[in-house]
Amino acid sequence: MDLILLGAPGAGKGTQGALLATALGVPKIATGDMLRDAVRDGTELGRQAKGYMDAGALVPDDVILGMVRERLSQADAKGGAIFDGYPRNAAQAASLDAMLAEIGRKIDAVLYLEVDDDAIVRRMGGRRTDPETGRVYHVEHNPPPAEVAARCVIRPDDVEETVRRRLEVYRQSTAPLVEHYRAAGVPVHSVDGTREIEAVQGELLTLVGR
Ligand code: AP5
Repeated sequence: MDLILLGAPGAGKGTQGALLATALGVPKIATGDMLRDAVRDGTELGRQAKGYMDAGALVPDDVILGMVRERLSQADAKGGAIFDGYPRNAAQAASLDAMLAEIGRKIDAVLYLEVDDDAIVRRMGGRRTDPETGRVYHVEHNPPPAEVAARCVIRPDDVEETVRRRLEVYRQSTAPLVEHYRAAGVPVHSVDGTREIEAVQGELLTLVGR
């Protein structure tokens, strides 16, 4: 099963994607996580991406395409994947459709997490990430266990000015993908992402037939 998690920055794509991946037994392919790994490891790709990420802008499509193509070819992605934070614009959506068609697959559904801007700004301000496991927490809504809290970090692009820029980019480039997939006949399920994490997860699982 190939699913896209669509939603604004901070809508909960990473949180829900990790839970769904475990429940469905398919990997989460999160381009943001892959880019942050590359930045951390100081690779050429990471050096290319860092400036765009720090500015809240999109990393060029060709960089993303190469990265996703390579990831999709790995053995654990043979039975499907959950795409988190990708595709991000019409060109990426077209290249994902083409890549999946090459291997006889297609997007089965788009899970669209809707969260208002005020909630997003609050979420970004409280987000913490465990650099060892990549797990995402929130100081109030989903606090890390005590032994993990001390090593948690704040993402550099979670400062308010960059969050606003990311929201603008989302509205301009990514939100129109809802119509792209609807027009292509792919089921697009809108989900109220402002509820508790478990409630959102329960609805997503029902929507994908689990
Ligand atoms: P990326 O890492 O994809 O960031 P994003 O889309 O902006 O999304 P976030 O990771 O910020 O949020 P999320 O929706 O995953 O929410 P989360 O679950 O963490 O991209 C970062 C950058 O990389 C981009 O700006 C761009 O530069 C580049 N990039 C990435 N992909 C690209 C691509 N395809 N093309 C070009 N450039 C690309 O939750 C947020 C917080 O809220 C957490 O603290 C969480 O604990 C909390 N939370 C989650 N759910 C709930 C809930 N239900 N109630 C209360 N709190 C909650």
